[in-house]
Amino acid sequence: MKRPQVIINCAMSADGKIASPTRKQMQISCDEDIERMYRLRNKCDAVLVGIGTILTDDPKLTVKEKYVKHPKQPLRVILDSKGRTPAHALVLNDVAKTLIITAKGKEKTYKGSHIEVVSCKTDRNGFIDVKGVLDFLYRKGIRTLLVEGGGTVIWNFLKNKVVDDLYIFIGSCIIGGKETPTVAEGEGIKGEKDSIPLKIVEVKRIGSGLLIHYQSQ
Ligand SMILES: NC(=O)c1ccc[n+]([C@@H]2O[C@H](COP(=O)([O-])OP(=O)(O)OC[C@H]3O[C@@H](n4cnc5c(N)ncnc54)[C@H](OP(=O)(O)O)[C@@H]3O)[C@@H](O)[C@H]2O)c1
Repeated sequence: MKRPQVIINCAMSADGKIASPTRKQMQISCDEDIERMYRLRNKCDAVLVGIGTILTDDPKLTVKEKYVKHPKQPLRVILDSKGRTPAHALVLNDVAKTLIITAKGKEKTYKGSHIEVVSCKTDRNGFIDVKGVLDFLYRKGIRTLLVEGGGTVIWNFLKNKVVDDLYIFIGSCIIGGKETPTVAEGEGIKGEKDSIPLKIVEVKRIGSGLLIHYQSQ
C-alpha cells in the first residue's frame, strides 16, 4: 500500500505524561521546542489529531507566523468517527483547510468551503481505520503526515505499524497520576514479545529538555 510518510511528534514529562491528571493541556515543551514543532508542522502536507485532542485542547493546528515566515499551513485532519467536532472548534477556522473523517452515516455539514467531511471504514473498535485514512490521504496528494496525538491516536498508528519517525520531547518535569494520559494509550501490547521496536536516530538537548528522534524498526 502506498501511504504518506508518517511522523509522530509529542511532548512528554520525564515520567511519560502528555497532559495534566485532569487531561487538560499543559505546556511541557520549552520555547525552543515549540519553534521546532512549528517548523516541522510547516514542512508536512497534513497534521492529524483525534477528536479527544480537539475536545480537550481546542487547538488551531495552524503554523504561527511568529515562528515561520509565510507558513504554508498544512491540511488539518481530525479522526472523529461519531461526528463530535463542535461547529465552534478553533480547528475549523479559515486559516487552513480542515478534513474531518467520520464513520459512514455520521457526516455533518459545517460552514465554509475550507472544511471537508468524508467518511471512511471503521476498524473493530469502531475507530476510523488507520490504513484506510492513509490510503485516502495519499490519493489526495498528502506525502508527509504529522500525527500530533493524543495518546489513543498515537497508539493506533504505532499498533498498525505505519509510523516512520517518532519525535519525543522530554520536558524536565514530573506530572504523575495513575490516570494521566501517556504517549501511547489504547489497549497496549498483549505480551512482552509484542512490544513495538524502535531505534534511536538522534538525541539532542533542546532548551530545558531532550529531543529523541526514533524510527520504526
Ligand atoms: N503533549 C502532547 O504532545 C499532546 C498532544 C496532543 C494531545 N495531548 C493530550 O492528549 C489527550 C487527548 O488524547 P486522547 O487519547 O484522549 O484522544 P485522541 O487520541 O486525541 O483522540 C482519540 C479519539 O479519536 C477518535 N478516533 C477515531 N479514529 C481513531 C483511530 N483510528 N485511533 C484513535 N482514535 C480514533 C476516537 O473517538 P471517537 O470514537 O469518538 O471517534 C478516540 O477516542 C489530551 O489530554 C491532550 O491534552 C498531548
